[in-house]
Amino acid sequence: MTNNKIHIFDTTLRDGEQVPGCKLNTKEKIELALQLELLGVDVIEAGFPISSPGDFASVQEIAKIVKNATVCGLTRAVQKDIEVAAEALKPAVRPRIHTGIGASDIHIKSKFNTTREDILERAAKATKLAKNFVDDVEFFAEDAGRADISFLAKLVETVIAAGATVVNIPDTTGYCLPHQYGEKIAYLYNNVPNIDKAIISCHCHNDLGLATANSIAGAIAGARQIECTINGIGERAGNTSLEEVVMIIKQHSSLGLYTDIKTEMLNPLSQLVSDTMRVPVQPNKAIVGSNAFAHSSGIHQDGFLKESLTYEIITPEEVGASGSKIVLTARSGRSALAHRFQKIGYDFNRNDIDVLYQQFLHVADTKKEVEDSDLQVLATNYVPAE
Ligand code: KIV
Ligand code: ZN
Repeated sequence: MTNNKIHIFDTTLRDGEQVPGCKLNTKEKIELALQLELLGVDVIEAGFPISSPGDFASVQEIAKIVKNATVCGLTRAVQKDIEVAAEALKPAVRPRIHTGIGASDIHIKSKFNTTREDILERAAKATKLAKNFVDDVEFFAEDAGRADISFLAKLVETVIAAGATVVNIPDTTGYCLPHQYGEKIAYLYNNVPNIDKAIISCHCHNDLGLATANSIAGAIAGARQIECTINGIGERAGNTSLEEVVMIIKQHSSLGLYTDIKTEMLNPLSQLVSDTMRVPVQPNKAIVGSNAFAHSSGIHQDGFLKESLTYEIITPEEVGASGSKIVLTARSGRSALAHRFQKIGYDFNRNDIDVLYQQFLHVADTKKEVEDSDLQVLATNYVPAE
């Protein structure tokens, strides 16, 4: 069974925090880190220690306080970065250094102005250096989504030989289609001789709205770690959304995969991250959006009221949401209207509802949503036929 566990690597505090306007101070980062630990994530990427004294302090404080999850710090494949990260992570019970370098030709040529051979050397050197400080070293092959696949395989082989325990295959630009990303991971499993010595990790960005689908495709192909953020927050269009991958894995148990996430914490934590980072969650966001359990059209409401499973594949309680909602709009039907009247204390019969429904539609056409106070007025003014 352990082989089928998907390790959840949360990077809300690092990739998520890179979003303009989302910067967190040390106190806020500690509060979120403790909640992430309670949520059951396996790894907390606490920050990028060399980036600023404030982020160094945040990683250090989180390293002191988090006991169950691995605490990870990001570095470039640069000696100073690695030494600084190692220093920040010293107090951690389970420290991990996450180092890496560009793997695609555009990164190799435009960013580093160098050759593939040099990248292999730098990657091995950085991994070995990080290994001097911690046992657990994750290597990221940046822009792996657009990298030449045989070079990527060579790079993965090289860093595993140098001691990497986890190898991250980022689709940095959110470029891949799910089947392409899955095939990339499968190729690595079939072509890297020492691949069983490391965990392969998915780190997908959402530029084409495919981050979650790509991460799941990676896990189906054998990856056993998914890097994600609460609410899918992150650079540009964001990262893979933690709540989505976790619930997909739970919902589709036939995949044979599992995580250790306490799913009933998903909604409260989504709200906390949204409030702390001051980024609202879109209403139609899967799992944690305010409409994720709202039913507003007549056909859906009727089916839902007869049997909730007709229109809900997970229950709100399972993900800590406040409950399902029947929203009354001009698209709602008689069952929903009768149900809401009942909730506010009016038990109308079928004929009454037929009449009230026509009056309700007039009100509904003038409003986005009909409230209980509107129903109260309809009920009070209603005169039943003799
Ligand atoms: O998207 C990316 O490639 C990254 C790496 C730094 C892991 O965030
Ligand atoms: Zn990223």
